[in-house]
Amino acid sequence: MKSDVKDIKLAPKGKLKIEWAGSQMKVLKLIGERFAKEKPLKGITLGACLHVTAETANLMIALKSGGANLALCASNPLSTQDDVAASLVEDFGIPCFAIKGEDKNTYYKHLNAVLDFHPQITMDDGADLVTLLHTERKSQLPKVLGSTEETTTGVIRLRAMLKDGTLKIPAMAVNDSNTKHMFDNRYGTGQSTIDGIIRATNVLLAGKWALVVGYGWCGRGVANRLRGMGANVAIAEVNPIKALEAVMDGFVVRTIKEALQDNDLVVTATGNKHVLSVEDLKSAKDGMIIANTGHFNVEFDYEGLVKIAKSRRQMRDNLEEITLENGKKLFVLGEGRLINLSAAEGHPPDVMDMSFANQALAAEFLVQNQDKLEAGVYTIPQELDDMIAKLKLESLGIKIDTLTAEQKKYLTSWHEGT
Ligand code: ADE
Repeated sequence: MKSDVKDIKLAPKGKLKIEWAGSQMKVLKLIGERFAKEKPLKGITLGACLHVTAETANLMIALKSGGANLALCASNPLSTQDDVAASLVEDFGIPCFAIKGEDKNTYYKHLNAVLDFHPQITMDDGADLVTLLHTERKSQLPKVLGSTEETTTGVIRLRAMLKDGTLKIPAMAVNDSNTKHMFDNRYGTGQSTIDGIIRATNVLLAGKWALVVGYGWCGRGVANRLRGMGANVAIAEVNPIKALEAVMDGFVVRTIKEALQDNDLVVTATGNKHVLSVEDLKSAKDGMIIANTGHFNVEFDYEGLVKIAKSRRQMRDNLEEITLENGKKLFVLGEGRLINLSAAEGHPPDVMDMSFANQALAAEFLVQNQDKLEAGVYTIPQELDDMIAKLKLESLGIKIDTLTAEQKKYLTSWHEGT
């Protein structure tokens, strides 16, 4: 089988990790069991570009149960779990092209290797496969039924492609499901970002002055978890409504320039580019730790910082000291790549359960609706989103109340008033 992984001998360790993660992913398991009976993806080749983690492995296993032929590559050069990649190849017969720490050339070689399977469905986390399909591999587009997209950044790119007329396929915005962004982005990013910062630095968060840039779902999660660890948390935000929400959630809202003067730690979670410029970083407090948890490594200008560095030292895995001409030292985590996946293991399986249930159902939806869907960005139907929440609650042993017939009628009528 064609594949490119670091070391196939790592498979036994990866297999156990996959099994443990799977034991926490009860909704995906139910979907996988149904897929095994109904084979909704029979004969479909599906190319995925996702973080190659134990959670992703469980998604691949569910899709394979549904009859799909698969090929997987990494959606980030630093996020691959090499033991998991080895096990996918060795134990599950799933072609995998991913090596932790791969350079940019290898990263794109691996994406192209997945597209060499001529997938009818692509599954992205950051829209890199879709971008490649619409640029260098356009000739494959007519055979593609559609794509699914995991992350906020990817959905933004898809909508930009749709707006300028580039997008030629239907794309399912998995991130837009409530059971995805309200949980994965908030609680998943919240916990795993703290995990990454701690693994990279082992610093005490209690009493630190921390700035979170961006108060979207991810920023909210990170800010809350930092506060839970005892940090003094400030928020920088450009959107007045989100900034106001941060104020009323009890955070201090400050401008980036102001906060950088006296903060110990800054975390970017914006999905945007260069929210911390080289000039900002030059003026930052000596000793500041800088991490990014957004999808791409451009949220702060790491490359610009490297260019003006007087010297650089790798102090620990994922912790780089950068000394500036003025003698100031800044500590950059994971080369500015998303810290939760570069220094830690990404979101916990319990939350990826819902995200990947959405992915599996999105793939099924594309097959079922292939004759109806035009090029565009689609959200997963509300009934499926609700069903995932229901199954998750059931898996947690939690019961909820239901409306009476009278209450249902009341909520859909207007005659009763004061
Ligand atoms: N994105 C964030 N966390 C992840 C994980 N554990 N697996 C796959 N993708 C992720």
